[in-house]
Amino acid sequence: MQNKVIVIVGATGGIGITLARKLAPTGAALVLAARKGDRLQALAAELANLGATRVLTAPTDITDPTQAIALMQKAVAQFGAVDVLVNSAGAGILKQYNKLEPADLNAMLDLNLKGSFYTCQAAAEVMKERKVGHICNVVGILGKHSMAMASAYCASKFGVVGFSKCMADELKRFGIKFTLFYFGGVDSPFWDTVSLKVDRTKMLRPETAADAILFAIAAEPQAVPMEVNIQPESHLFF
Ligand SMILES: NC(=O)c1ccc[n+]([C@@H]2O[C@H](COP(=O)([O-])OP(=O)(O)OC[C@H]3O[C@@H](n4cnc5c(N)ncnc54)[C@H](OP(=O)(O)O)[C@@H]3O)[C@@H](O)[C@H]2O)c1
Repeated sequence: MQNKVIVIVGATGGIGITLARKLAPTGAALVLAARKGDRLQALAAELANLGATRVLTAPTDITDPTQAIALMQKAVAQFGAVDVLVNSAGAGILKQYNKLEPADLNAMLDLNLKGSFYTCQAAAEVMKERKVGHICNVVGILGKHSMAMASAYCASKFGVVGFSKCMADELKRFGIKFTLFYFGGVDSPFWDTVSLKVDRTKMLRPETAADAILFAIAAEPQAVPMEVNIQPESHLFF
């Protein structure tokens, strides 16, 4: 971990922030990205107290492909490389299919699908030069299982799985590997704005998700943890 440059997109979210805190004492160089710069700054200060010595904050809106490219360029300019991208930015709009407005569908596709796509594209371009890299996409179980009220969200997340597998195939000759994380519900601020009634006490903890991502990042170089699937006992998808 010590020599790795790790870009966390969605670093201020429930999963991203927990991962960043766990990475702080490891010696990894951390690049923190999300839209709100003040939150990134506050997180950077907290990580310094936890032992992080190399932290860059990079306010970024990944729905804009030029900002996704700029993010990777900033990481390379500061730390010389990008070893790992953790794509943990996203949002959920969970409504019955006929209650979804065009703006809802656009929001899901623009952020969850296209934003992740642009971020992977931008990271792969800088990773290719060194012929090494690891892209961790936090998809969620609704990237491969359906759920009522999740048609727009599932459309975006199934898309992430589709493009990730294509990119992984194209990029394996450049030493770039992909891990897809299929977490069930994680108790995070993700659910603060979701209208669907859910029991957050039965969800996974962000720590569980962060530990799974750490496991994948720390795997020996020749090992590719391709998929990680962790579900809460109360809501299992088979
Ligand atoms: N929570 C769950 O139950 C669950 C389960 C499975 C998978 N997931 C997936 O895991 C990922 C992270 O979820 P979470 O629970 O950590 O969510 P969260 O707590 O709501 O965090 C979302 C993060 O994404 C960032 N973000 C939102 N829009 C962005 C944009 N346009 N550009 C850059 N960053 C943006 C947010 O920061 P700003 O607002 O400052 O931009 C925040 O850091 C998402 O893709 C989600 O779909 C979540």
